Order: sequence, then structure tokens, then C-alpha cells
Amino acid sequence: MAYPQVRLRRLRRTESLRSLVRETRLHPESLIYPLFLVPGEGIRKPIPSMPGCFNLSIDEALKEAHECRSLGIGGLLLFGLPAEKDEQGSGAWADDGIVQTGLRAIKADARLCDLLTIADVCLCEYTSHGHCGLIQRTGEGASATYTIQNDASCELLAKTAVSLARAGADIVAPSDMMDGRVAAIRASLDQSGMAETPILSYAAKYASAFYGPFREAADSAPQFGDRRSYQMDGANRREAMREIELDLQEGVDMILLKPAMSYLDILREARDRFDLPIGAYQVSGEFSMLVAAFERGWLERHRTILESLLSIRRAGADFIVTYFAKEAAALMR
Ligand code: PBG
Repeated sequence: MAYPQVRLRRLRRTESLRSLVRETRLHPESLIYPLFLVPGEGIRKPIPSMPGCFNLSIDEALKEAHECRSLGIGGLLLFGLPAEKDEQGSGAWADDGIVQTGLRAIKADARLCDLLTIADVCLCEYTSHGHCGLIQRTGEGASATYTIQNDASCELLAKTAVSLARAGADIVAPSDMMDGRVAAIRASLDQSGMAETPILSYAAKYASAFYGPFREAADSAPQFGDRRSYQMDGANRREAMREIELDLQEGVDMILLKPAMSYLDILREARDRFDLPIGAYQVSGEFSMLVAAFERGWLERHRTILESLLSIRRAGADFIVTYFAKEAAALMR
């Protein structure tokens, strides 16, 4: 049968009909809100390239956490800007590190117990050179070359994950893209009595210009070179499937793909191939370009936010990390 017996518009006539047959839905509990923690007190410093986002001292971050909880948001993704950086990024695994301290504060508040805390595991916010792993330098001055030491970096990442889990992270999320880091983290967590802590790996993370605003927010821009020797080439789809497959073999519990909106094909293919939970990260540049258009009156704010998130869900994401989480959750009520 076809037109005129078949008329797809019949089920689009009213909102009740549209709602009945809606295939994809958005829920506050499948949103994750990122926070950038800084040392100090009473600090709420606007991030210029991300209007509406702030660097927050822990007391201010707790206020955000309460707001997220009352909006029904699933959890927080925590990043930290340490007081001092060094070659190794030792602030990442310091017992009194900024995220560790933040985690303890959140966990000490019983009213926040059902808000998930996800700790980003990476070195780039903590290293003086801004790379996600340890650097080896060959040569001197202008002719010096730099390589990232993969296996030594994995050891430090594992140490970082253990320290964050000990401080109360419900989930650890390595975003560095070193080979073998999931296995290293799993082994260290298990040996440290934290066999129950899940790993959410950024399994396929592309070297993307859309991370630009984040690097201002997290003060993590590489001081030389770029991240293309460890993050993925945006041209590669099959390679992303291999990354996911390897993380599965290393014992990952869930994966995160990023960026989201320019990589929806990767998300769909991963969803079709793999049965583990998959999240997508609508990254800083995706947020900022939309906000810039809202500020100019070029796009309708609320509808566009929801449509962007819906497209990510429809492509296959179980959950979404987004700087719009609070605003979107409020719109979903
Ligand atoms: C750290 C990290 C980055 C992002 C998340 N974790 C930056 C990068 O790899 O340069 C980007 C998130 C965003 O842009 O919102 N490795």
C-alpha cells in the first residue's frame, strides 16, 4: 500500500500522537555535566570562550553539584587545574590534588550520594608542557625533537586512576589515548582493592580543533607540537572500531566517543557493532559555536540545544557529556 491510503502525516498531527510514536527520548539522568576545579575559595571565574561555564573552587563546585542533583542530572565529569604544573604531571595523582580534594568534598555530602562522579584521567592539565603523556626530548634548542613515552605514561595514568578512585570517584575516565592504558588502569585498580570501580575510556578520541575552548578552560594547550601522535586522525572510521575492540579486550566497562556532532557516523557504527554502554562527548567547540550563534540571534537557543542532543542520542549514545546539561535538563522537565 502507498499514498493515498498511506499518509505518514496522520501520526504527526498533534503533539500527543507525535509523542506516542517518538523513537528517541532525552532524559536528564543520561546527561553528564563537566566541571573545572581550581584551588581556592569563592572562585567562579568565567571561561571567556565558553560563555556560562566557569573555573570553580570546590565550595562553588558543590553548589553546582547540588543544582545538578536537583535537576536529575546523571553525574559530573571532573577536571582539575592544579596550583602548579611539572614535567611529569605529578598533580594528577597527588593525594591532596585538586580533583581528589573535590571528590572527597562531594562524597562527604550525603545529599549528593546518587550523583555519579566521573574523574577524567589524563596528565595534560598537570604537565608543564601540556601533553597527555611523558615527554622525551632528543637534541637541544630549536632542533630538539619530542616523543611521548607511551608505556611510562600508562604507569602514571594508572597511578592517577587509583588515586582518584581512592578519593571517591565512582568511575574513572582515561582521556589520554595512550596504547594499553585501560589494561594498566584495570590491573592497578584491582591490585589496590578497587575491582568494583568501572573504567569509562575515551576509546575513540579524535585529534580535533573542537577542543580549542577546553584548552583555555583547563589551561592544557600543548606548549609545542600537537596531539596528533596519540589522538586519532579524523579521517579514520575503521581504526575507531579497532580502538574500541582493544579497549574491550583490556577490560573496559563503557566507552566515550568524541567529539560528537561531527562524528555521528562513528557513534552509529560503534552502537551497531558493540553491546557495551556508549557515551558521547559534545565537546567545548561544539558548545561554543552554538552559543556564539545563539548570541547573534542566528539560532533559537532551546530548540537547537535539544535537537543537537537528540541527534547524538539517535546516533546511538546511551549518555551524553555536555556543557548544556543543566540547561537541557531544565528544558526536559
Ligand atoms: C584531556 C581532555 C581534553 C578534552 C577532554 N579531556 C582536551 C584535549 O584532548 O586536548 C576535551 C573536551 C572538550 O573540548 O570539551 N586530554
